[in-house]
Amino acid sequence: MTVAIHFRLARRGARVVRTQVGIVGAGPAGLLLSHLLQLRGIDSVVLEIRSRDYVEQRVRAGVLEQGTVDTLVASGVGERLLREGMVHHGIELRFGGARHRIAFERLVPGRAITVYGQQEVVKDLIEALLKAGREVLFEVSDVTIRGADTARPQIGFTHRGRGLELDCDFVAGCDGFHGVSRDAIPPGVLRYFEKEYPFAWLGVLARVAPSSQELIYSSTDRGFALHSMRTPQVCRFYLQVRAREDIANWPDERVWSELKARLETVPGFTLATGPVLEKGVAAVRSFVAEPMQYGRLYLAGDAAHIVPPTGAKGLNLAVNDVRVLTEALSAWYRGGDTSLLEAYSATCLRRVWRAQHFSWWMTALMHRFDDYDEFDLRLQRSYQEYVARSEAAATSLAENYVGLSLS
Ligand code: FAD
Ligand code: PHB
Repeated sequence: MTVAIHFRLARRGARVVRTQVGIVGAGPAGLLLSHLLQLRGIDSVVLEIRSRDYVEQRVRAGVLEQGTVDTLVASGVGERLLREGMVHHGIELRFGGARHRIAFERLVPGRAITVYGQQEVVKDLIEALLKAGREVLFEVSDVTIRGADTARPQIGFTHRGRGLELDCDFVAGCDGFHGVSRDAIPPGVLRYFEKEYPFAWLGVLARVAPSSQELIYSSTDRGFALHSMRTPQVCRFYLQVRAREDIANWPDERVWSELKARLETVPGFTLATGPVLEKGVAAVRSFVAEPMQYGRLYLAGDAAHIVPPTGAKGLNLAVNDVRVLTEALSAWYRGGDTSLLEAYSATCLRRVWRAQHFSWWMTALMHRFDDYDEFDLRLQRSYQEYVARSEAAATSLAENYVGLSLS
C-alpha cells in the first residue's frame, strides 16, 4: 500500500499510520533519503515543519562535490543539475594583493565541483518524490519521537490540526541542527564536540552576473569575503562579520562597499553590483554528536554535525550520510543483515571528521581573528603563501575541496 493511500486512510479517521522509515525533516538529507529508499522499494514518510515554498526558497549551500553530483545523477534527479549546474575546475585564493589559483584539473585530475543551489536540489527531490507518489507532509507540528530503543519506534505529530502517529521500523533524524531528533536520545548517550568561532557569515544573494569565472576566497585585514554564484545572472557573496551581527546594521550600500573593499584587492578586478535579492547572517560553528545513532533512530546531516561553511562541506556530508544509511537499511530489509546499520555511525564519522578538520583549517587560513597578534598574522600569511606556492600543500587543499573518497 502506498504512503499516499495510508494518508488518505488517515484522513478518513485512522490516527496511526504505518511506514517502514519515518523521516523527520525535508532538507537535502531527509528528501534524498526518502528518494533513495523508494528506489530500493522501501517505504518512507517525510515530515517537515516548514511549508514547501519555504524549503524550496531557502538559500544555503551552492558547492556540490563530484560524489554528490554522481549520487544525484545515478538516482535519476540530476537532469536539471547537469543542464544548469556550473562545473568549476578551480578556485581562487586572494591575499596580499595577489590572486592564487588552485587548479583542480592539474592537482586532482578528473575531479571538479559543480555550483548548483541547494534549494534547486531540494526542488528536484520534492518533484521526484511527489511524482513517485510519496507523500511529503509539510507544515507539521509537535513532532515527538518515542521508543527509539524499541523495535517499533513512533513519531507523533500534528498535521492540519489532527494528531497523528507514524508507526515505523526505523526513524531517520534529518531535521538539521535545531531539530528535535537529537534531543529524543536520552541524556548521557551522545557525546558532543563543539567549537564556536568569534565571527559569523553575512550571506547575500544578488541579481548580478559573476565578476569572476571561479569562486574567490579573499583574506584581507578587514576580514574574509567570498564571491560565489548561482547562475550566469545571480551571484552569492559572503562577508565575515561579528558573531550574532544584526542584519539591520548592513544596508545594501554597506554590503557592496565592504564586498568591494575585500574583493577589489588585485589589479584589474572590479566587482559588478546589482539588486540584492536576499541577505542574512549565519553562525560559523563546528559540531559533532557521537554516535550518530541510538537504537533505531539514525541521525543524518546537520542534525548530527555542523561544519563552518568555508570548506563547502555541509550538504555534501548530509548526502554521504544518507547514502550510507540507504545501503545499511537495504541490507536489513533484504535479509536482516544488521552489520551495516551497526557500522553506520563509524562509517559516516570518518568523513565527518575529515571534513571538520578541512573546514576548520580553511577557516583559520582565510579569516581575520580578533585575538590575532602580529605573530599570528605572520604565521597566517606564511601558511597562505605556502598553500599558493607548494604543489603538495595546494594538492592537499584541492583533494579535500573536491571531496576525498573515504568509504
Ligand atoms: P537542513 O537543510 O537544515 O534540513 C533540515 C530540515 O528539517 C529543515 O527543512 C527544517 O525545517 C526541518 N525541521 C527542523 N525541525 C524539524 C522538526 N521538529 N520536525 C520536522 N522538520 C523539522 N554545504 C555545502 O556542502 N556546500 C556549501 O557551499 C555550503 N554553504 C553553506 C552556506 C551557508 C550560509 C550555510 C548556512 C550552510 C551552508 N552549507 C553548505 C551547509 C548546508 O546548507 C547544510 O549542511 C545542509 O542544509 C544540511 O542538510 P540537512 O538536510 O541535514 O539539514
Ligand atoms: C555558496 O555558493 O553558497 C558557497 C560556496 C562556497 C562556500 C560556501 C558557500 O565555501
